[in-house]
Amino acid sequence: MSPVEDTWGWARRSPLHWLKHGPRPDRLVFRIGCSMRKCSLAIVFLLTVISPLASIAHAQWAPLVSDSGAAKRIAWWREARFGMFLHWGVYSIPGRGEWVQWQEQIPVNEYAKLAEQFRADHYDPDAWARAAKNAGMRYMVLTARHHDGFALFDDPGSDFTAMKSAAHRDLVAEYVKAVRRAGLRVGLYYSPLDWRFPGFFFPGIYQQSAVEMRDQYQRQVEILGRNYGKIDILWFDGGANEWLGFGGVEFSGSGWHARANDQPYRGKFDWQDEKTVAHLRELQPQILVNNRTDAPADFLTREGDSAMGEFDNVHPWELCTTITDGAWGYQPNARVKPLAQLVGLLAGAAGRDGNLLLNVGPRPDGSLDPEQLKRLSEMGRWMRANGESIYGTRGGPWLPGKYGVSTHRGSTVYLHVLRRPADGVLELPVLSARVVSARVLHAGQIEFKQTGNTLKVTVPESGADASDTVIELGLSEPLPEVVKPISPAIER
Ligand code: GLC
Repeated sequence: MSPVEDTWGWARRSPLHWLKHGPRPDRLVFRIGCSMRKCSLAIVFLLTVISPLASIAHAQWAPLVSDSGAAKRIAWWREARFGMFLHWGVYSIPGRGEWVQWQEQIPVNEYAKLAEQFRADHYDPDAWARAAKNAGMRYMVLTARHHDGFALFDDPGSDFTAMKSAAHRDLVAEYVKAVRRAGLRVGLYYSPLDWRFPGFFFPGIYQQSAVEMRDQYQRQVEILGRNYGKIDILWFDGGANEWLGFGGVEFSGSGWHARANDQPYRGKFDWQDEKTVAHLRELQPQILVNNRTDAPADFLTREGDSAMGEFDNVHPWELCTTITDGAWGYQPNARVKPLAQLVGLLAGAAGRDGNLLLNVGPRPDGSLDPEQLKRLSEMGRWMRANGESIYGTRGGPWLPGKYGVSTHRGSTVYLHVLRRPADGVLELPVLSARVVSARVLHAGQIEFKQTGNTLKVTVPESGADASDTVIELGLSEPLPEVVKPISPAIER
């Protein structure tokens, strides 16, 4: 059997049984020893029920690294706060998102034909880097290879690459050079899983295919780590045992059943994430790796606007989300989120002590969508005026509240007022240091009062930017970099 096989045809058989009776679809595992009939039904279920769950809640991810160099390694990234994510690949051609193959059950061989149209005619990574820089972003992360298996780089071991199809170029090589030229940090996204391999879905039954997929993972990570000079981030997606094929449904003597969420896959296949990532770290000692493999990571990943989550100034973390509604890959006419929403996301992340990785989906020819570009430059305008309240700050001292969030650096605190109190007076518990001045950033002084345990700040009707009035508070002495955050309990 070919390692790259058309698994999609199976899914066209009736999925109703599984739709009705299927167990939790977010964690699926299949073991050796099931009958073909049951396996087929399970595939039907897998391919049809979980497709809407593209943004699956990731149950357990890798622990964070604990080596002595970890804090130093990640310092630049913490300071940077804002990066650009780029989802670009052959899926950009149909323009229905990077999950189009899965969601529309496109046979592998048919999907592969898209590579013949992927010419990258207007691919200009210098223009991408300019757009990122102009938006105030300090690093970029490009999908070197997504779940469909198409590599934007040259891999002599695969035919499904930009090098061996219409583009005939190593697009990653050009990207890396351009990003470096622009003075930004270079990140690559890489998905170890590959939908072309039946071994991804049934590692027990199609062991050889699973091993071939893992060989590809190891070979390609080696290529990315070795051939392009310094890489600052390897942003993995889909390597962990918990992901899709290796999550939630198991077959035992009594049939298929859902596995408990906290029970890791115990089948025979091993991704060997630790080995692969350890090797990558040998090649790239300063590289940062996220927590979507089973290997120790430098930072945690949160995904989507609604996953902003809690304040956390202990574990480095990043929220990734899209500049448009909908998918990560290009979708023509997708609504571009309003500036206020994007500023709220960036300030929201910084105020919780995290980063924002904002995704744009370039068009099939490699050019950026003008609407997305316009919003990026608006972000840049906002960052040029307010960037000092984001870059190099830490979250807090106050926890996020109804009003918005706070960030700080030394003896300056920035209040990001995303929602002005009705009477315009923001009441917060006092800090250990006294507030000695208050002004809207780059604008006039504003009134403040400290009495007893309460600090009252008068927020003007509309500040420098109506979407986020940034107030700069001067303190009598610096705050520690990592604060014990204070609940804004008295805030109204
Ligand atoms: C999810 C999606 C994937 C996307 C990623 C970005 O895992 O499935 O398509 O690349 O999020 O974080």
